[in-house]
Amino acid sequence: MGYTVAVVLAAGKGKRMQSDVAKQYMLISDKPVLYYALQAFEDSDTDEIIVVSDDVSYCKENVVDKYGFRKVKEIVAGGNERYDSVYNALTTIRDADYVLIHDGARPCISKETINQSIKKLEQEDAFVVAVPVKDTIKVVKDEKIEHTPNRETLWSIQTPQCFSYSLIKEAYDRLQGLPKEHITDDAMVLEKVMGIHASVMMGSYQNIKITTPEDISIAKLFLNM
Ligand code: CTP
Ligand code: MG
Repeated sequence: MGYTVAVVLAAGKGKRMQSDVAKQYMLISDKPVLYYALQAFEDSDTDEIIVVSDDVSYCKENVVDKYGFRKVKEIVAGGNERYDSVYNALTTIRDADYVLIHDGARPCISKETINQSIKKLEQEDAFVVAVPVKDTIKVVKDEKIEHTPNRETLWSIQTPQCFSYSLIKEAYDRLQGLPKEHITDDAMVLEKVMGIHASVMMGSYQNIKITTPEDISIAKLFLNM
């Protein structure tokens, strides 16, 4: 199996959460949100973890050292946007075969999904974990519906987003000189700068992203806490 590095993102402002404590450090049964994703990667076939945080010493003391995550080899500073945080991590990797990029705000990721992703990287060098949408999704402008894409073509994109290291590193290197509006995931970077379209790998509806306050209660339920 190829050497696999997981980048776990835990920087950012969490504006939509509107909480005093950063969402990555809000507690679910006494443990910070970030703990759960790190535990899943620690328990998986991942070889090494890089955490990205806006407060490196806080993260080290209160999460990485506190819970003894041995696979965490580095904690790097976050950037202004998600893609900046990802790049900060990618530039610290000296060598790897595979990279899994995961939102630290997705605590319900399972070890099984991570291991399945690592296996799939032996056959495919760009894919993202995702689920088909359940709701009808409409494109709306100024509170007016513009059109309704066929639901059968719509997927909700989650993480991990999984790539061969050389491919995603090259895409992010090239991105640096380009305009970056509206880039919200890693697959978009590949689309934009390389014209490469990643695949989807069926994930779980439980792999939610903690974004707004009610998500904490839902995650707690899925984690059986
Ligand atoms: N993230 C990051 N660096 C940033 C922005 C986001 O590492 N500059 C990470 C977050 O920690 C999260 C993931 O990217 O795990 C998904 O981002 P999102 O849920 O949008 O987090 P925020 O940008 O912090 O929240 P909001 O958009 O509500 O401000
Ligand atoms: Mg955001």
